[in-house]
Amino acid sequence: MNVGILGTGHYVPTKVMTNKDMEKIVDTTDEWIRTRTGIEERRFAEDEIDTSDMAYHAAKEALKEANISPEEIDLILVATVTPDTPFPSVSCMIQDRLGATNAAALDLGAACAGFVYGLVTATQFVKAGAYKNVLVVGADKLSKIIDWEDRSTCVLLGDGAGAIVVGEVGEGKGVLSFELGSKGSGGKDLLQNKEGFMEMNGREVFKFAVRQMPESTVNVVEKIGLQKEDVDYLVPHQANIRIMDAARERLGMASDKMAKTITKYGNNSSASIPMALSESVKNGNIKDNDLIVLVGFGGGLAWGAAAIRW
Ligand code: ACO
Repeated sequence: MNVGILGTGHYVPTKVMTNKDMEKIVDTTDEWIRTRTGIEERRFAEDEIDTSDMAYHAAKEALKEANISPEEIDLILVATVTPDTPFPSVSCMIQDRLGATNAAALDLGAACAGFVYGLVTATQFVKAGAYKNVLVVGADKLSKIIDWEDRSTCVLLGDGAGAIVVGEVGEGKGVLSFELGSKGSGGKDLLQNKEGFMEMNGREVFKFAVRQMPESTVNVVEKIGLQKEDVDYLVPHQANIRIMDAARERLGMASDKMAKTITKYGNNSSASIPMALSESVKNGNIKDNDLIVLVGFGGGLAWGAAAIRW
């Protein structure tokens, strides 16, 4: 059975915060943020909008695009590091709100790689014949865990959500290969500290990501007997444009063949990849039959990649 993505959706909060706005909060400059990270602005959700609200809106759009009713969903997986509450889970909250009366619901945590872990998990359930349609959401309200006194992290982050519906697709299409990995010894370099804030050893994470992201991308392509030249479009985790470019250049791909939502949304953790994917589908950058690669890395440390024939 071929299993792939039936529909995509995303939600971005309306409140825009530019680099100039960040200059008013911490000792930084628009120039530093642009050149070191590629970020120009980010979105922050209003107080009354939590992770589950963003997840709900993204999910609604994905279901509409997939032409699937809420009752047809068998399982909801939500990747998040910033749930409204540890329990009830975000997946249970949106199960109720969507009216997905037949769905099991589970949140999963693999930080910025969480969405790829969710996609791969969903794919296995459908391939096994256990479930027909699985809703996978990546949603994070990182503004809840930003340390506004740490200029090296607060300028990087933004809020948002993205979603997909996973189910059976046509011959030769869908998820063709994947790679998941973890390295817990690096956990100390990227974590939520006792105060509840994100804390990061940026240089160490950078070194790890700049090696892991290109490697995983090449691995999933080689696993299906194809060459890096065969990749039509790359949807990487949006953490830093320099890390993303390293992966793209390793594949020898042109700049316009990579999703770059980081410029306007910053790093949205679990939500970055599905938001970038949904936008790329809607703006026509991903076309029928394209070979695309999704690749993410983050806290854990954990990483994941998938090659998909669209
Ligand atoms: N404005 C101005 N200066 C700053 C800022 C800022 N916002 N932040 C740090 N600096 C300063 C530092 O204090 C340092 O000054 P010093 O040399 O006097 O000590 C200088 O800039 C250089 O700092 P570096 O850490 O070497 O800068 P670098 O080029 O490594 O960029 C960055 C920092 C952008 C954080 C980079 O290391 C990075 O992107 N790391 C990976 C981050 C990442 O991918 N995280 C992933 C997961 S997090 C998640 O996805 C949710």
